[in-house]
Amino acid sequence: MRVTLKIKRFNPELEEKQHWEEYDVDVEPNDQLLDALNKVKWYEDGTLTYRRSCAHGICGSDAMVINGRNRLACKVLMKELGKKVTVEPIRGLPVIKDMVVDMEPFFAKYRAIKPYLINDNEPPAGRERYQSVEDRERFDDTTKCILCAACTTSCPSFWANGQYVGPAAIVQAHRFIFDSRDMALHERLEIMNDTMGVWRCRTVFNCVEACPRDINITKAIGDVKKAILEGGVGG
Ligand code: SF4
Ligand code: FES
Repeated sequence: MRVTLKIKRFNPELEEKQHWEEYDVDVEPNDQLLDALNKVKWYEDGTLTYRRSCAHGICGSDAMVINGRNRLACKVLMKELGKKVTVEPIRGLPVIKDMVVDMEPFFAKYRAIKPYLINDNEPPAGRERYQSVEDRERFDDTTKCILCAACTTSCPSFWANGQYVGPAAIVQAHRFIFDSRDMALHERLEIMNDTMGVWRCRTVFNCVEACPRDINITKAIGDVKKAILEGGVGG
């Protein structure tokens, strides 16, 4: 089938503002949008710029606004998109070129939540720190995050205030707050309790809609809010 891709382009060396360009390409219904973008780049206009790597929804590098919704270009099929498809960079981060945005503000927030296990105690002699199935289950959902930024860049609270830590960083914080092996619970809850922390979430649900890993982000945010109010994670 023949489709038209309407792509928001930006080259800071040539222009001050983004502009739209259209490309007609032949695709198969089961092609990914990423395949269609590759056709444009490889055969029509080599200057088209976007991040991609795995093409299988794992690396998280090709989040874009596709027909108005944040999605991964490699996880959406052409047959789901119609004959005219709009493609734009994710919102709320500075655009470097075409679909490539500056991810540094996003990763700075990720670093701020200390995304690593904190436990200075020696593990039991001769073995790892065991964890029960039930304890592991408490943060299973939030281990699925691939840091694609689709959630944070679809969030009106983040658009309104770029200092807000954003849903992705809260999801990552949840992963450690609810890990029974981690010893930095109160430090983590304090970070989340900051004025730019979890309370800026207004439960708009855009993040849940955007997440390509189907993580229940608002539930994770609710869990973190409850843990702050109760001063711990219970059971
Ligand atoms: S929570 Fe989902 S949308 Fe947000 S960064 Fe992780 S994988 Fe992407
Ligand atoms: S290219 Fe890796 S997630 Fe799409």
